Amino acid sequence: MRTSEVEPRPPFSVSSPSSARLASLIEISRLLISAVDLDHLLSLILKTSSQLVGSEDSSLLLLDPATQELVFVMAQGSVSAKLKMVRLKPGEGIAGWVVQHGKPLLVNDVERDSRFTSKVDKMTGFRTKAILAVPLQDHGRTIGVIEVLNPDKDRKFNEEDRELLTAFAAHAAVAIRNARLVTSIKEANRYLQAEIDERYGTLIGKSAGIRTVVKAARKVAETSATVLLLGETGVGKEMFARSIHSWSPRASKPFVAVNCVALAEGLLETELFGHEKGAFTGAHQMKKGLLELAQGGTVFLDEIGDTKPEFQAKLLRVLQTHQFERVGGTVPITVDIRFIAATNKALEAAVHAGSFRKDLFFRLNVVTITVLPLRERKEDIPALVNFFLERYCRDMKRPPKRNRPKRSRHRLQRHADWRPCITPGPPVPCLRSSAQESPDQPRH
Ligand SMILES: Nc1ncnc2c1ncn2[C@@H]1O[C@H](COP(=O)(O)OP(=O)(O)O)[C@@H](O)[C@H]1O
Ligand SMILES: [Mg+2]
Repeated sequence: MRTSEVEPRPPFSVSSPSSARLASLIEISRLLISAVDLDHLLSLILKTSSQLVGSEDSSLLLLDPATQELVFVMAQGSVSAKLKMVRLKPGEGIAGWVVQHGKPLLVNDVERDSRFTSKVDKMTGFRTKAILAVPLQDHGRTIGVIEVLNPDKDRKFNEEDRELLTAFAAHAAVAIRNARLVTSIKEANRYLQAEIDERYGTLIGKSAGIRTVVKAARKVAETSATVLLLGETGVGKEMFARSIHSWSPRASKPFVAVNCVALAEGLLETELFGHEKGAFTGAHQMKKGLLELAQGGTVFLDEIGDTKPEFQAKLLRVLQTHQFERVGGTVPITVDIRFIAATNKALEAAVHAGSFRKDLFFRLNVVTITVLPLRERKEDIPALVNFFLERYCRDMKRPPKRNRPKRSRHRLQRHADWRPCITPGPPVPCLRSSAQESPDQPRH
């Protein structure tokens, strides 16, 4: 009986497989690369590995990084459900050996090989006669094993099978890495979206000041008009920008928030407009900017009053034409975007002082909504206090605390002056005095 241990070879060293088998390897590898759903990919790997080599069955085992045990992720046929319960300890069985040594292993008579464990067959009722097992390797680390069991038509597994399956496993490992990456990005995205929904999902406030703003925001949401949100830091400008988007016909499309002062000017440009491959040192690939990614949706330009004149000029062109070029590019890209801008600066004064472009100001100032600071709508304080109390209790896994004693609530409301801020955290009384105008009605 032949048992051979061999160094894995690079995929293109396959020396002898027939051209038909090579063609199917190429075709299958192409399929693998296009599968981004992890479960779908794993079942594809399983099915195609068996087909490629010509075997009765196949299994796919992945390494559990926490325990270093091998877990049957999938197996073909009726044994599949039973196999899901089986775990192989480090080094256990032929698959365990393959992981420990990082090499393929071909065993045409398992009964005469001491590395074989009958544990799996006992659980499943399947009778393994021969195994060809190859490691799945990602950047030199073994992440799992593909096994094909019992060759078809009374033949034996041979060198060609081993080389073919090794080449296939190299493609499969890359595909698994990519699919895991996509899965983790999707999960992170879902988590972040839930965080955003939690933070900006509930708009609290029944004061006349807030009702006026809500009315104006709902009205403008129906249109695609550019909106300029004014008000001090923390009054809820971003909250209203997100609300306008979610009340608009664009709600199912992306909402992209860009803080215009958080990034250095050059970076802000590449973030917004993207860049072509080779546009600057390190631009190894073309990258789409946020404007392109927001296609059909809303872009929120926060802290617009703090931008530099060069950037203002570029932004003006986008607002006028809805066109731009990626950094280093010459092809104009057209986008359908609704813009909402926000600032805590007195923009008109900045125009007079010459630090903000007049033409950009007029482009942004189509509909202006001013959000009042909390000190001018103190009647909203109790509801906000309860809202934040509930949120913190939930975050800290404490029983909900509502209905604060009346006296302390009144004290909060009576406080002489308030920072505009509703920012979560202890409310901070303000020492600045800044008279606010009443909210502007939208100008259509
Ligand atoms: N009316 C409101 N109801 C509930 N939370 C609010 C309200 N206004 C502001 N907040 C909260 O206060 C914080 C600051 O609001 P934000 O919209 O970022 O302010 P701004 O953009 O004006 O600086 C956010 O966490 C937001 O969820
Ligand atoms: Mg803000």
